Amino acid sequence: MIHAPLRNDTFLRALLREPTEYTPVWLMRQAGRYLPEYRATRARAGSFLALAQNPELACEVTIQPLDRYALDAAILFSDILTVPDAMGLGLYFADGEGPRFARPLRDEASILALGAPDPNRELRYVMDAVRTIRGALAGRVPLIGFSGSPWTLAVYMIEGGGTDDFREVKTMLYRRPDLMLHLLNVLTEAVADYLNAQIEAGAQAVMIFDTWGGVLTSSQYLKYSLGPMQRVVERLHRERDEPVGAGVGLDAGGGPSGMQRVRVPSIVFTKGGGQWLEPLSACGADAVGLDWTTELSDARARIGSRCALQGNLDPMALMGEDAQIRAEVARVFESFGVPQVGTGHVFNLGHGISQHTRPEAVSALVDAVHAYGRKMRAPGA
Ligand code: CP3
Repeated sequence: MIHAPLRNDTFLRALLREPTEYTPVWLMRQAGRYLPEYRATRARAGSFLALAQNPELACEVTIQPLDRYALDAAILFSDILTVPDAMGLGLYFADGEGPRFARPLRDEASILALGAPDPNRELRYVMDAVRTIRGALAGRVPLIGFSGSPWTLAVYMIEGGGTDDFREVKTMLYRRPDLMLHLLNVLTEAVADYLNAQIEAGAQAVMIFDTWGGVLTSSQYLKYSLGPMQRVVERLHRERDEPVGAGVGLDAGGGPSGMQRVRVPSIVFTKGGGQWLEPLSACGADAVGLDWTTELSDARARIGSRCALQGNLDPMALMGEDAQIRAEVARVFESFGVPQVGTGHVFNLGHGISQHTRPEAVSALVDAVHAYGRKMRAPGA
């Protein structure tokens, strides 16, 4: 499929630590329940899963936040739990509860029976959504693909849903570390194949969400969370073909076909992972996402410019009034330091946006980011 040239590549350039005119911004869970138009489309679809499995409707909700706010990237509307669902665990959402699996992994036999799904078969609806969204974006902003980390997927697959104490998954980790490593190996393959299929379908950057790495001890984190994540990053396709002007190219100009190789940057995000910033930033990804508990200034002092940084406004800062939101945005910028050419900052929240956020609060945030980012780069600023 031939895609239109990219009109706004600020996000991709920031991830690659190339010069940008201003600091790009997008928000984790930017398409979601805080938007009335999302709730309307979800009602039309009938359920969250029906919405995620319908490429046209998934495309519609992906674009909704871009029509309201001057965001610099779109993120595929889907969920990290589609992969375990494709592996046969039976994902469902009980009303008022979070996600659940009908068949959680509780014994050796069910773990040994698992295999990595073929993303172009069992997860074809996701690849169709990626292609549909790329067509609808028509070069407006880049599209981010994503997956859960192997460890985070394992948590949901063994617990069967959300958990407060991680008892089931940690029981397996302590009693059967061999089985846990086997499961993580299968998931490493599944996640790498899934992200590469998204890249082939048109994703222009990819992000790995390691929501639960932060609940491990330090040595467990390195072995069970970061290790598999690093092996996923090593297997990622780093380039794809796009028409000239459609991305951040590897070489100037295009071939006779008008196509060029462009880079596909990757982002890794471990929630609660501030203490492992050094090894995380060395895993091979282009950017590291930070939650709000790690200061950007501290992160920069510790890892220098090895990676771009993404984050890290506390999502609950959006509960403030507009003037307070602007002050918090300024605080994040001041922590990062005056933006300089090629220093690589992507503004984001430190975790997903709350469904209780006022839609106007997001306008205040996005406008403040763009105004601040441009002011700091203005000549003589
Ligand atoms: O960022 C985006 O806009 C893209 C869409 C996206 C969703 N989930 C849509 C969604 C992304 C990137 C995710 C990732 C995801 N899903 C993570 C990792 C990020 C994180 O938050 O740490 C996790 C752990 C999940 C699993 C999951 N899915 C949970 C725990 C829930 C229920 C909690 C909740 O917020 O309702 C979901 C459901 C879900 N995924 C919703 C959305 C918009 C809400 C479903 C609804 O409409 O009712």
